[in-house]
Amino acid sequence: MAIIGNDIEHASTLLKAGEVIGIPTETVYGLAGNAYNVSAVTKIFKIKKRPDFDPLIVHTDSLAKIYKFVKDIPESAFQLAKYFWPGPLTLLLAKKSVIPDLVTSGLPNVAVRVPNHAVTLALLEKLDFPLAAPSANPFGYVSPTSARHVNDQLGGKIPYILNGGVSKVGIESTIIGYEGSQLVVYRLGGLTLEKIEHVVGKVTIKPHSSSDPTTPGSLKSHYSPAKKVVIGNIEELMDVYKDRPFALLSFQKEYDHIPSENQLILSKSGDLDEAAQNLFSSLRTLDNLPVEYILTEYVPDRDLGLAINDRLKRAAAK
Ligand code: TXA
Ligand code: MG
Repeated sequence: MAIIGNDIEHASTLLKAGEVIGIPTETVYGLAGNAYNVSAVTKIFKIKKRPDFDPLIVHTDSLAKIYKFVKDIPESAFQLAKYFWPGPLTLLLAKKSVIPDLVTSGLPNVAVRVPNHAVTLALLEKLDFPLAAPSANPFGYVSPTSARHVNDQLGGKIPYILNGGVSKVGIESTIIGYEGSQLVVYRLGGLTLEKIEHVVGKVTIKPHSSSDPTTPGSLKSHYSPAKKVVIGNIEELMDVYKDRPFALLSFQKEYDHIPSENQLILSKSGDLDEAAQNLFSSLRTLDNLPVEYILTEYVPDRDLGLAINDRLKRAAAK
């Protein structure tokens, strides 16, 4: 198992030596390595069992550092960066050659983000290279929102996990790029469309293009627990699945006749931020129960609800 600790100096020493470690962010935990170092990036793909056609997000702590590895930041991207970094926003920008092609799966753009987490920002400040970091889960599984989640699945393969507590947003960053001069959202995430459109006006949304190789971020079956996830009206689903072992993941409601250990609630008060924070850890907990099915429901389709529903849909798409 990996050592879980708070030693930023140690984390930085490991990264400088080309090692790969777990790092906290406000969205989900990342599996981080030196983005300029092909051998470190190769380790990331291996540890995650990630196909090399699925590119990595590069993390840094300031706009100034980003100019070292991207060619140009268009005005609307600059506005978004100014408003929302550090934060759950990833921008696709034309890369300089210092970023190895392996990081971007050969694509001309690199995905860049400044995460909003004090521990990881302090770490990034100490480094003269950015960190390539996908979510720290085996490819296709639910993303980790705590150091323990990372340790449970990848602890045997990495030396260290920097502990930053539970991820506050709980759902991955929103990914935005360009088609010509038009801004396009390729992955719904922790930064809401409402907030984005407030700054740059209407954007195009293309989150489900699972077959488009230029946006491999949108593989349809993803974020999946091992158990079968079924989405619908929970009352009706309980009737259909009454003779089979199931657990419930409900948005707000508790069901009296179901054992309490077999049901989790995303937010009793109906708060979508709280629901997002609880989503992945709830799926993990239910996935570890001796049941076959996880019965769940969509949340309201607004604010973070859009990203939550997107992840539920992908978790159910097996
Ligand atoms: O919140 C997050 O974004 C977290 C934390 C750790 O920062 N990271 C994360 O990384 O979710 P990952 O690798 O699990 O998802 C990143 C997605 C991938 O599915 C990838 O296909 C897409 O971003 N992506 C990365 N670089 C890209 C590029 N150059 N063009 C298109 N899509 C890209
Ligand atoms: Mg991921």
